[in-house]
Amino acid sequence: MNKLASRVEKIAPFQVMAVLERAKQLQATGLDVIHLEVGEPDFVAPQQINEAGQKAIADGNTGYTPANGLPELKTAISQHYRKQYEADVHPDRIIVTPGASGALLLMASLMVESGSNVLMPDPCYPCNRHFLIQCGAQAKLVETQASEGFSINLSNLDDWWDKHTSGMWLASPSNPTGAVLSKEYVTSAWREVSARGGHLLVDEIYQGLVYDGDDFTALSINSDIFVINSFSKYFAMTGWRLGWIVVPEWAVEGATKLAQNLFISAPSVSQYAAIQAFDTASLEQCEKRRQEFSERRNTLLKGLAEIGLPVVAPAQGAFYAFVDVSEITDDAMKWCLDLLEEEHVALTPGTDFGVKDSHKYVRFAYTCNQDRLREALSRIKRFINR
Ligand SMILES: Cc1ncc(COP(=O)(O)O)c(C=O)c1O
Repeated sequence: MNKLASRVEKIAPFQVMAVLERAKQLQATGLDVIHLEVGEPDFVAPQQINEAGQKAIADGNTGYTPANGLPELKTAISQHYRKQYEADVHPDRIIVTPGASGALLLMASLMVESGSNVLMPDPCYPCNRHFLIQCGAQAKLVETQASEGFSINLSNLDDWWDKHTSGMWLASPSNPTGAVLSKEYVTSAWREVSARGGHLLVDEIYQGLVYDGDDFTALSINSDIFVINSFSKYFAMTGWRLGWIVVPEWAVEGATKLAQNLFISAPSVSQYAAIQAFDTASLEQCEKRRQEFSERRNTLLKGLAEIGLPVVAPAQGAFYAFVDVSEITDDAMKWCLDLLEEEHVALTPGTDFGVKDSHKYVRFAYTCNQDRLREALSRIKRFINR
């Protein structure tokens, strides 16, 4: 009675929630809190997408769709890969999911045996570990170096790969660091992983939000690589809950069975709307926003350098910068809470993302305009100099 499944104990809550909660309380008292902790764009979806969503409701297109997604949407995604990334991806290989989160759960269920482990860099997106726990497996966080952009050193892979290792999960651009993997790196990762009989997943949810470095897809390297993506970030559709996974041809049938059983289908209104995401006008708007993010990034990086806070990984993509605060504190979480209390700036502590050195870092999300960013930087400067 009243006893949760033991796996729930292994799921860590987000530490940033404590920051968010306190931020809300402070805001409720009338204080002006600057939010740099939130990992979602401060934009809404382009107009064509919103209108197509409204039309889908008006037309009554609100029932289940095929489990793998609307054929028109899958075709649109496939054409986007061809046009934008010169990658040939047959629509049958695309499974539309409720967000990239749905895709990650599907991936864990599809490819990871219970009792096995999956390698991923420390730090990385925290939910990955938890999706594996749901499947009775676990993440093995591989120690990385800030000087190597927190990417897994592929020449030491034998130190980490054991007989229970099922594969490796990477992300580019990365959350929390913003680092972008090069095509050469992902090619080598595929060579190393496939030589050991494992699978490789590349989470490309921040695809398109690249300011410096390669904006490519791992699908152009090998069709046996699994790739995850989403409408949440580039298309600013976080609450529409729509993403996708591209699987190798041999995995389509298994992935379809799982999609049917796990979700029945992704949200239909969101799927009808998302067909418009690849329209020229929508892509032009997304590109303008990419430029806006790029300008914010420049402002943030310049401001951080001026106040002497080192950005530890090359912040080439997504909308994140990972910053070393170890000269100031040995407890990033406490530092975040104190900064919030005293200067009303909310950041995410590194401890949400990793184990080894995560207490040294904080994540900045540049999801507010440049004036707000400048104001945040001047408050942080005052806080540090106090
Ligand atoms: C790296 C990464 N993967 C997956 C997700 C899940 O995104 P969604 O389910 O909104 O598509 C996120 C969300 O922040 C993320 O940062």
